[in-house]
Amino acid sequence: MKSFLIFFFSGVFISMLLSGCSKPDDEMNGKELYESYCAKCHKSSGKGNFLLGVPDNRGTNLSYWEIKVMITRGSENHKKMRKFKHLTDTQAGLIAAYVMSLKKSGKSGAAK
Ligand code: HEC
Repeated sequence: MKSFLIFFFSGVFISMLLSGCSKPDDEMNGKELYESYCAKCHKSSGKGNFLLGVPDNRGTNLSYWEIKVMITRGSENHKKMRKFKHLTDTQAGLIAAYVMSLKKSGKSGAAK
């Protein structure tokens, strides 16, 4: 019985690790997708990380479409950023729209 319990709980634990305890990608909105794929480098606020050479997303001159394409296909001008091939067009669009919203809030000085 005891070993069964250990087996059971390690199973639960491993499946939690594998799923990352988070929602599946196709249920996430732009903000959540940004938090899971982009914030690691660009920070939740989008301000980037100067020391690591990650630019401020709020100051980007790229358009919604350019960002959307860049997310899934990468960009010749931004080789240092990896592409996210597994994201769908819809997800990339949600993220790009979120980046655009960060940009607006950045300009008004509202976001830190
Ligand atoms: C591993 C770190 C990392 C992750 C994760 C990352 N980026 Fe980047 N990003 C960078 C770096 C570094 C650059 C600068 C690339 C260059 O200039 O070669 C960059 C550049 C950019 C730019 C261009 C900024 C400009 O104005 O020129 C945009 C937009 C951008 N990233 C959006 C995103 C989005 C959206 C995501 C999530 C899908 C993301 N990044 C995930 C590191 C990252």
